[in-house]
Amino acid sequence: QAADDYQQMEQAAKYFAHQLRHHAKSSQVIDYLKGRGLSGAVVKDFQIGYAPDGWDGLLLSLAKNHKDRQQLFDLKLVNRNENQRYYDFFRDRIMFPIRDRRGRVVGFGGRIITGDGPKYLNSPETRIFHKGRELYGFYEAKKAHKQLAQVVIVEGYMDVVALAQAGITYAVASLGTATTADQLQLLFRATTQVTCCYDGDRAGRDAAWRALENALPLLNDGLALNFLFLPDGEDPDTIVRKEGAEAFSARLQQAQSFIDYFFSHLTETIDVSSDAGKSMLLKQATPLIERVASEFYREELLNRLARLLRRETSQLKQQIKAPTSQHR
Ligand code: CTP
Ligand code: MN
Ligand code: MN
Ligand code: MN
Ligand code: MN
Repeated sequence: QAADDYQQMEQAAKYFAHQLRHHAKSSQVIDYLKGRGLSGAVVKDFQIGYAPDGWDGLLLSLAKNHKDRQQLFDLKLVNRNENQRYYDFFRDRIMFPIRDRRGRVVGFGGRIITGDGPKYLNSPETRIFHKGRELYGFYEAKKAHKQLAQVVIVEGYMDVVALAQAGITYAVASLGTATTADQLQLLFRATTQVTCCYDGDRAGRDAAWRALENALPLLNDGLALNFLFLPDGEDPDTIVRKEGAEAFSARLQQAQSFIDYFFSHLTETIDVSSDAGKSMLLKQATPLIERVASEFYREELLNRLARLLRRETSQLKQQIKAPTSQHR
């Protein structure tokens, strides 16, 4: 069953890739991709495709019998209406196959080209697709590098692909959800340096703080977590196309360490010159620091906290517990 599911997903990816080249609307879709700065090579590397605007293109191409239709339904490649009629789930969308670590297609993201509807549609959870545990572009990044010196986490499919187009072939996307602990764990098994680079908007900034919170229990010695904040209104795709790969790399080099970000975020809303502010900072920072895996990082955070509170680190230390469960 499972092996067959992966085969069917691969067939779907091939079908979409084929449609991108041979469908009547092909040139229009390819023009769109070119307009976004993508070359044929990158489109091929990520096996980007096109789901035609019809009700049964994929269904007719992949399902020979009822068992096949049921399987496509289970994989959420097709939907079923109340009359038990099946129809394609993705229609008139640019298709991004999502591969698991081993390169098996487990889901798809589909971007609208024109007209109404949600800009992105993702495969719902299925028996082989668990959103919080996959990272778009991770397989492709691992394929491009024997050893991943660093990984950049971005929000979107187009961010990953645009960065790869520019030569930055080590970006992954967390699939429209907040970056989860599972996703960070996966990354820290493959690299020692992770930089979060979300959109320069409210949602992106919120996503960054949630990623930091999720990462604290995973931050062991030797691991670096950094944050790159983009100018308002930009995302990695727009900025790398505007400024180029070298400028983006320079931004990456200057990304904030999680320790800098930790305190700049907390003190954004707290006035540490007052006692009320100092006590508030202590109250908010303490439980977070306690969750950090590495003793070195806990110490470093305490030193910084002590400086802000105008205390001695030793005074604070007595109040801080080490994490109860040590992750690794
Ligand atoms: N996303 C999603 N569902 C949506 C909108 C977004 O799942 N309705 C996810 C997708 O993974 C998308 C990512 O969030 O790639 C980033 O969303 P957003 O920043 O809104 O995408 P844009 O940058 O606006 O998309 P594009 O560059 O393609 O115009
Ligand atoms: Mn948007
Ligand atoms: Mn956004
Ligand atoms: Mn975006
Ligand atoms: Mn974008």
